[in-house]
Amino acid sequence: MRIVVIGGSKFAGLHLTRELVSRGHEVSVVNRGQTAKELPAGVGRIIADRKDPAALAARVAEAGPWDAVYDCIAYRPAESAPLIQAIWADLPDARRTLKHFVHISTGSVYAKTDYLPLKEHFPRSADEPGTYGSDKKLIEDLLFAAHEKEGLPVTMLRPGYIYGPDNPIYRESYFFDRVRRGRPVLIPGNGLIITQFVYVDDLAQALSLVLGNREAVGEAFNIAGEYGCNLDHYAQLIGEAVGRPADIRHYDPQAAGLSPDEMRKAFPYKWREHTLRDTTKIRQILGYREKHTLKEGLAEAYRWYVEHWPVKGEPDFTLDDRILASGAVR
Ligand SMILES: NC(=O)c1ccc[n+]([C@@H]2O[C@H](COP(=O)([O-])OP(=O)(O)OC[C@H]3O[C@@H](n4cnc5c(N)ncnc54)[C@H](OP(=O)(O)O)[C@@H]3O)[C@@H](O)[C@H]2O)c1
Repeated sequence: MRIVVIGGSKFAGLHLTRELVSRGHEVSVVNRGQTAKELPAGVGRIIADRKDPAALAARVAEAGPWDAVYDCIAYRPAESAPLIQAIWADLPDARRTLKHFVHISTGSVYAKTDYLPLKEHFPRSADEPGTYGSDKKLIEDLLFAAHEKEGLPVTMLRPGYIYGPDNPIYRESYFFDRVRRGRPVLIPGNGLIITQFVYVDDLAQALSLVLGNREAVGEAFNIAGEYGCNLDHYAQLIGEAVGRPADIRHYDPQAAGLSPDEMRKAFPYKWREHTLRDTTKIRQILGYREKHTLKEGLAEAYRWYVEHWPVKGEPDFTLDDRILASGAVR
């Protein structure tokens, strides 16, 4: 298939590009050309900036026709609308060769819930536009509407926390930084909050399984590990990956006097409410099976971190030291 990946050169998009190439597809990537990662041989490049959504849409349409479009970097509805217009709505039926439009959404689209695990039909965020989850939900609305009214062959995947090699976000690396130095790992609350992760290559596999599957069209899928994992166990698995037990300490952020902004810097995951999404649908319809347990994935992530983690010099532990000195640590 002739496929374009919007984004596609940094993390999830890069691993997707590699997966699609390994499956024999002809792939092009759209980006600004700023991320200095090597793309697989033969991958085409389309330079465009999402800050000008109409120009990006025109470039993508011009370089078509495409059999599939993967949009990895849509964060606001205004970024998606011109693309749908250019590659689908504006085209006469005879030129609508696109078979799949795949959007990377997020598990954060769901509204707060009293029931877990979250299933795909559960209510989604009704928050005001402008937050990450509510904007991604509005993009989903736009895409569902384009599917229903105009037949856009859309599929959406809603990942949990994505982790693994190339992760530019300070998440597992936050833990690696502390555990490898023997520093305490400070977990807000009691460490029993459950969350869910997906290894980046497992996500790439799931995204690729959409191709050729008509049952996936018009559908949204949760994608994450089959089981949730509590934060203490996650830290223990990090310790196993590093080869040094994690020195886990719990604390009450309020007693430590941290502002909400400081709290966002002090810990990289949700720690107040459980996150658990049911993944039966993607397993049944796409035949998805993860190839990495969390333990295996974290071992891979640590190998990458040791070689590549880009932070130069010592990480900043000022906030950790303040929490430790606050008397709020149990
Ligand atoms: N990380 C998580 O835990 C998580 C969880 C759930 C869902 N998600 C979703 O997963 C997706 C994240 O994918 P990723 O970060 O791994 O994407 P990626 O596609 O691997 O990397 C970002 C890409 O976008 C390009 N880019 C950045 N700004 C651009 C702009 N203004 N115009 C054009 N290209 C631009 C970058 O290249 P250049 O710099 O060269 O432009 C790079 O190719 C998002 O949709 C996010 O909502 C993430």
